[in-house]
Amino acid sequence: MPNDIRTLSVTELASQLIEVRQTSHTLLNCFCTALGSEQLTVPFKENLNPPLWEFGHVAWFADYWIARNPGRSHGRQYQPVAHSPSAFAPADGLFNSATVAHDTRWQLPLLGIEGIQQYLKDVAITTEDCLATDMAALEIPVRLGAGHSVIDNASYFYRLALAHEDMHAEAFYMTAQDLGFPLPGTDRPPWAPAADESQPQLTEPAAETAQASTFRRNELVTRPQITIPKQSLVLPHPASGFFFDNEAEALSASLEDCEIDTEPVSHAAYAAFIEDQGYQRPELWSPQGWAWRERHRLNGPKHLSLSNGRFCRQWFGQTLEIPDWFPMIHVSLYEAQAWARWAGRQLPTEAQWVAAAQWAPEHFRWGNVWEWTASTFLPFDGFQPHPYKEYSAPWFGDHQVLKGASWITNNRLRSLRFRNFYKPHRADVFAGFRTVDALRNYGDSLLNSPTGN
Ligand SMILES: [Fe+2]
Repeated sequence: MPNDIRTLSVTELASQLIEVRQTSHTLLNCFCTALGSEQLTVPFKENLNPPLWEFGHVAWFADYWIARNPGRSHGRQYQPVAHSPSAFAPADGLFNSATVAHDTRWQLPLLGIEGIQQYLKDVAITTEDCLATDMAALEIPVRLGAGHSVIDNASYFYRLALAHEDMHAEAFYMTAQDLGFPLPGTDRPPWAPAADESQPQLTEPAAETAQASTFRRNELVTRPQITIPKQSLVLPHPASGFFFDNEAEALSASLEDCEIDTEPVSHAAYAAFIEDQGYQRPELWSPQGWAWRERHRLNGPKHLSLSNGRFCRQWFGQTLEIPDWFPMIHVSLYEAQAWARWAGRQLPTEAQWVAAAQWAPEHFRWGNVWEWTASTFLPFDGFQPHPYKEYSAPWFGDHQVLKGASWITNNRLRSLRFRNFYKPHRADVFAGFRTVDALRNYGDSLLNSPTGN
């Protein structure tokens, strides 16, 4: 993937750090337009943050790990050191997500909009200065053949801050979708033809054109699939470049052969489940999933309505018709599991997903929606937390792995390696799913004997 955050050059890194900060400013301006008040008030919800808190946190994160971090040149080998105080004295008490509990963020004396804008600008300048200084200091050692690891370590926190800001950019889109207001690009949804033909275009796959009203269960077996032969999967640990702590060490698994969907389950296929009373049949749901459905009195998925065989989706404050071939989006893990059980199939494990994507990259379509897997988020053998130790370790065990990327995920982050993770009930993520056949016992295709269970 060009410009992958893991391998992009230091020159590209500098320009993309500037670009991502411009995106954050643009998003903040859109939030101001949409929410209109001085404090950008949003309701207290588990899946939201107060926007001013979140924008401040983005600036804080880069500042804390770069300009304020005297140990930054050691990258992931960093040993904890005392970080310099912030130029904005209360910053740590306001914006450190590891210490400021989510439910307290609504009561904090945050900076106003202009204060947050200034904070973002100030940190961008110090970040840029630090990168220029760090790379100038490396010129001689690199010329003398210091090797990849020196550059990898010296650029580690810059790549981490870039990835972090990209992830929050996607979270801002999730917030806007939840609250129903537009952001840049949402007027041209991912199922619409691209205005600029040089842009990647998500198009209707040739093989699945069934109308919702005519989609029948026997068509499930004719959906395009590929056979992945029995194999030992190894996704080796990269010799150089950036990686997240949860991606190390190598991903390996012993896999039985399986047939896996070439693309995520479509709206048409999902509608057949709804029409077959899928939301009224507890036998299709896990106990936790059924309890979740009962608690929220759900008769169908979030943001979706179906009338006269056409789908209408709430999309950033508008009601838009969505084509039935487009991947189902905004479903929880529970809904994905129930659909799979109804169809006599199951979700792929993380290892099966990666094996298929590697085995048949020309047929295996991904990238419109994150994809729930059957795998609990667990560390691989040999896991060592990286300096930002709250990135992965606190979430092992009760989150589920999602693979792929969504329509809004920045290209820099798209990678077969990337492990996204959310709690099973989250339906606000731009997530869908695909399935594998359930005819054989896969022994759950264990991933490198994950520790912790
Ligand atoms: Fe964060």
